[in-house]
Amino acid sequence: MKAIVHTSYGPPDVLRLKEVAKPAKPGSGEVLLRVHASAVDPGVWHVTAGLPYLIRATPYGLRGSKPRVRGMDAAGVVEAVGPGVTRFRPGDEVYGTCDGAFAEYACVKQDQLASKPSGLDFAEAAAIPVSGCAALQALRDAGRVRAEQRVLVIGASGGVGGFAVQLAKAFGAHVTGVCGSAGADMVRSLGADEVLDYTREDPTDGTRRYDLVLDIAGNRPLHRLRRALTPRGTLVIVGGESGGRWAGGMGRTLRAMMLSPFVGQRLVGLISSQTHGDLRLLAELVEAGTVKPVVHRTYPLADVPDAIRHLRGGQVPGKITIHL
Ligand SMILES: NC(=O)c1ccc[n+]([C@@H]2O[C@H](COP(=O)([O-])OP(=O)(O)OC[C@H]3O[C@@H](n4cnc5c(N)ncnc54)[C@H](OP(=O)(O)O)[C@@H]3O)[C@@H](O)[C@H]2O)c1
Repeated sequence: MKAIVHTSYGPPDVLRLKEVAKPAKPGSGEVLLRVHASAVDPGVWHVTAGLPYLIRATPYGLRGSKPRVRGMDAAGVVEAVGPGVTRFRPGDEVYGTCDGAFAEYACVKQDQLASKPSGLDFAEAAAIPVSGCAALQALRDAGRVRAEQRVLVIGASGGVGGFAVQLAKAFGAHVTGVCGSAGADMVRSLGADEVLDYTREDPTDGTRRYDLVLDIAGNRPLHRLRRALTPRGTLVIVGGESGGRWAGGMGRTLRAMMLSPFVGQRLVGLISSQTHGDLRLLAELVEAGTVKPVVHRTYPLADVPDAIRHLRGGQVPGKITIHL
């Protein structure tokens, strides 16, 4: 089968389209998926580059030299099921995440899959898992969002932000989205009550206060983010791409968590996961018309390096997906 293989850390070009063996059989609790679409997000770039270096202390390894197939988001058709799989049968159209989605076939745990939302094509479905689950868990679990709250989404035009705006509206919040000029129309079309262009105004200048701030992009210092919060507001640090080479944004998140017990505001970090329950919930919200994925552009499998470069170049309202 064709797959995008990673043999050493480096720029996107280290990812090569190769012929590799098709996974033999799905293991216990896994399905063998014929992948029809995947997606890219900043996490794919981090793992490709091995940056921040902290990544090299994880199972990705010190040198990234083991040949491995990259890609997490996946949408496709179940080809076979392993022992103990109860939720899916061959022929089912599903979506979720796995290790190695940039390939024609992948083994996927049934707990990280749900039925593909009806009405979406595979590329649209593949745009959801990583970003949609992060947005949902940031708002509901870390942020404990409630109706009528004022929510600030920093990075509203990106993969996570696009879902966060729609989900915050679905929770009944008043939503202000922060993005660059390229994404303003999209963020408004997703239902944001207000849109701030970060190239023209500072959403953390203290003139406006929010009950909940989702910090998805921009790496603003903690003291500025706290200035945008009400005295008992909550800050959820989701991401940000300009942290240092060693720990990335981790230092800022750790400082927030250490400070939180001593101040009136709640300051928390997010480590999201893609679960069957949340993927099902997102599918239901899509089918009810409450949430929609926004696909900015779709690349063929061979062009994964171009897709990653495009994402890193910025000004990508919505998601970049991969079709196979
Ligand atoms: N904690 C978790 O579990 C988790 C899960 C998923 C993702 N993440 C992280 O979350 C971050 C965002 O991911 P993503 O997929 O949404 O990335 P993305 O698709 O690249 O979106 C980032 C968005 O932020 C905007 N932006 C850039 N600089 C900004 C600034 N200074 N102020 C406000 N907005 C700004 C960009 O708009 P312009 O291009 O127009 O500037 C872009 O639309 C990444 O760091 C990712 O690693 C964390």
